[in-house]
Amino acid sequence: MIVGAQIAPSVVLPMEAGTWHVHTPRIVRPAHDSGLSRYSHGSPVAVGELPSIMLVGAMSCLCVAARRSVRGGLNGYVRNSCRRKASVADPTVAGIVVPARKLVAKGRVSAALPVPPHIVRPPYVAEPEAVRGWWNMRIQPKSAEDAVAMRAAGKLAHATLDLAGELIKPGVTSEELEAELHQFMCDGGAYPSDLLYKGFPKSVMISVNEVICHGIPDDRPMENGDLVNVDVTLYMNGFHADTARTWVCGETDDVGRRLISATKEALDAAVAACRPGAPMKVIGDAVSDIADREGFGVVKTLVGHGIGEFFHGVPQVFHTRTNDPRKMLEGTAFTIEPVLTEGSPDWITWDDGWTNATRDGGRAVQFEHTLMITADGCEVFT
Ligand code: MF3
Ligand code: CO
Ligand code: CO
Repeated sequence: MIVGAQIAPSVVLPMEAGTWHVHTPRIVRPAHDSGLSRYSHGSPVAVGELPSIMLVGAMSCLCVAARRSVRGGLNGYVRNSCRRKASVADPTVAGIVVPARKLVAKGRVSAALPVPPHIVRPPYVAEPEAVRGWWNMRIQPKSAEDAVAMRAAGKLAHATLDLAGELIKPGVTSEELEAELHQFMCDGGAYPSDLLYKGFPKSVMISVNEVICHGIPDDRPMENGDLVNVDVTLYMNGFHADTARTWVCGETDDVGRRLISATKEALDAAVAACRPGAPMKVIGDAVSDIADREGFGVVKTLVGHGIGEFFHGVPQVFHTRTNDPRKMLEGTAFTIEPVLTEGSPDWITWDDGWTNATRDGGRAVQFEHTLMITADGCEVFT
């Protein structure tokens, strides 16, 4: 989901203008890097062969609005990072080089797959208005019966990702992968929640390499060395479960493997910090500790979200350091879905309106779980 001008579950949430900002490192490009932009906004990004990009560190803040902001922060919770003390592990400060790599080419997207008529659809399929700004504003603790339904949905979502992991091979297209997962979810009695959510055209989201999230399955064959993220959300017995993992297709380099293991570790550490009474800020701290240690970026504007009978709702879950004092309450269900980046966490959206990719072309990895706060900790449903 996306926050504010740029906050998506790993969604887009309305935010107070001018109360936050992201450190944007100056990107130095070779002179030949000029023709560009299949992207709908943001500064031009090279298409095709990506030249080495040097991120120059120790930048001062470029954001006047952020400097003006007294309180700072995402909806008041995230500190203005201008005042943050720089650490060597911060890629925006340390200065890093994202190696030259071929960017992901956009493929052809075929028609949506049919869902058998007996599968119960979430409300937004018949009534797109039901999503209403994608956001459900009230936190309602889940009952024991709700938890039973979410446990079942989570189990099937977990199994769907297990299948994805088995099918990821060089030469397989993301659409072929989607078709298998679609079938598996329907066979299990679930509706693939992504399909027609805010108009999304496919049944799962598949995001490769520099694509951070919300990738649309298409006819591009996966290549050896690709980092392939599959994000599955399904709707069963009236509840959603949302989960994602990232795999290496074939073999990759050390940084790619480390990016995956660190992101997984970051999610696990964040989950381990969840218990009743814990402030929400422990999540961003746990994720950031690991990202800092490894020298990776954390995407600030893609956030986790409350989930249940709705796909996206409060509480918004930040993965970066914040001063978010909200206390976790027993029965609250939400996702945690950190994205770590090998270069800058700054991102752009392709002109398909969905695909989010890093601005510098560096790879991004995401893992996600749906969980519920219990009496003495939390239960991961996925
Ligand atoms: N599974 C994605 C998530 O983790 C779905 C995002 S749909 C969007 O939240 F509409 F919010 F982009
Ligand atoms: Co999610
Ligand atoms: Co997801």
